[in-house]
Amino acid sequence: MTARLPQVFPHAGLPEHVTVYEVGARDGLQNEKTTVPTEVKAEFIERLANAGASVVEATSFVHPKWVPQLADADVLFRLLEHRPGLRYPVLVPNLRGYERALACGVREIAVFASATETFAQRNLNTTLDGALADIEAVVTPAIERGLWVRGYVSMCFGDPWEGPVEPSAVASVVERLLAFGCHEISLGDTIGTATPGHVRALINLLADRGVDPARLAVHFHDTYGQALANTFAALQAGITTVDASAGGLGGCPYAESATGNLATEDLVWMLDGLGIDTGIDLPALVETSRWMADHLGRPAPSRAVQALTKG
Ligand code: HMG
Ligand code: MG
Repeated sequence: MTARLPQVFPHAGLPEHVTVYEVGARDGLQNEKTTVPTEVKAEFIERLANAGASVVEATSFVHPKWVPQLADADVLFRLLEHRPGLRYPVLVPNLRGYERALACGVREIAVFASATETFAQRNLNTTLDGALADIEAVVTPAIERGLWVRGYVSMCFGDPWEGPVEPSAVASVVERLLAFGCHEISLGDTIGTATPGHVRALINLLADRGVDPARLAVHFHDTYGQALANTFAALQAGITTVDASAGGLGGCPYAESATGNLATEDLVWMLDGLGIDTGIDLPALVETSRWMADHLGRPAPSRAVQALTKG
C-alpha cells in the first residue's frame, strides 16, 4: 500500500516553519515550448494558492522575444485574485520590465543577477557589471516605493561554460544586491551541480561575512538528484525559505543542462515528515500538479507526485 502522508519524526536543529517560495508558474513554465493559455496559468496559480502556497512567483516581465511562454505577463497578472497573506512576486530584468510590472499593480519583484560573467551575457545580454547597474536602477526606486524586492543569484555552485564557481565570487554579488536594498537573496543552483557540503560552505561563508541566513533563500534544480539533500543541508545552516516548483517543472532556457526545479511535493513530503510547518496541503498540491501535467501532456517529474498517483 502506498503511504499518503509520511510519519512524523522531528530532527534537532531545524526550523519549525519553512516558507516555500513556489516558482512553478514562472521557472516551471518558462521553458515549455507549447504556449500554455493565460487562463490555464491563472487557474494553476489559484489552485496553488488553494493548496496553501503563500508565495507564488506568478510570471516574468522579461522581453517577450526572450521568453515567449511568459509574453502574457501583463494580462495574467491582472487576472490574479489577491487575498490577504498571499504574495505574488514577479521577475523583472530591467527598468522597462519594472514599469510594465508597476502598471499591473505588482507589489513584490525579483531581480536576477549571476555569479558568473558568461551567464550574465547569455541570460541578460550584458556584462555582470552592466547587469548589476540595471538591477540597481530598478531596486532603488522599487525600495523607495515600498515594494518588496528579492535578488536572485544564478550559477552559485557551478556554471556550464565557466565550470567551478568560487563561493567568494558568489558572496561578492550577494553583498552588492544587499547593498542595493534587496530584502532577500535566493542562491540559485541553476544547473543542479551543488552537493550538501558545498551548500553549507557557501552559507557559512556568507554568515562569516555578516549575511544573516534569515535573508537567504535556496533555489535548487534537481539535475543530479541532489536538490533535497542540498535543502536539508541548507535548513541545518539556518535557511528558512526554500524555492520549489509544483510537480518539478522547470529549467532555464538560457542555461544549458538546467532541468527541473526541486519539486514542491518532494520538499513538502520531507518537511511534513520532519514535522516542519509549511501551510501546504500535500494531497491538494499533488492534485494541482496532476491537473497541470494533463494540460502539458506528460507526467509530472516529481517522485512524490508519481508515488501518490500510483497509490
Ligand atoms: P536586450 O535585447 O539586450 O534589450 O535584452 P535592450 O535593452 O537592448 O532593448 C531592446 C528592445 O527590447 C527595446 O525595444 C526595449 O524597449 C525592449 P525597442 O526600443 O527596440 O522597440 N525591452 C523590453 N520589452 C519588454 N519587456 C522588457 C524589455 N526590456 C527591453 N523587460 C533583456 C535584455 C534583459 C530584456 C533580455 O535579455 C531578457 O529579457 N532576458 C531575460 C532572460 C530570462 O528571462 N531568463 C530566465 C529567467 S532567469 C532564471 O530562470 C534563473 C532563476 O530561476 C534562478 C536560477 O535558477 O539560477 C531566476
Ligand atoms: Mg531557476
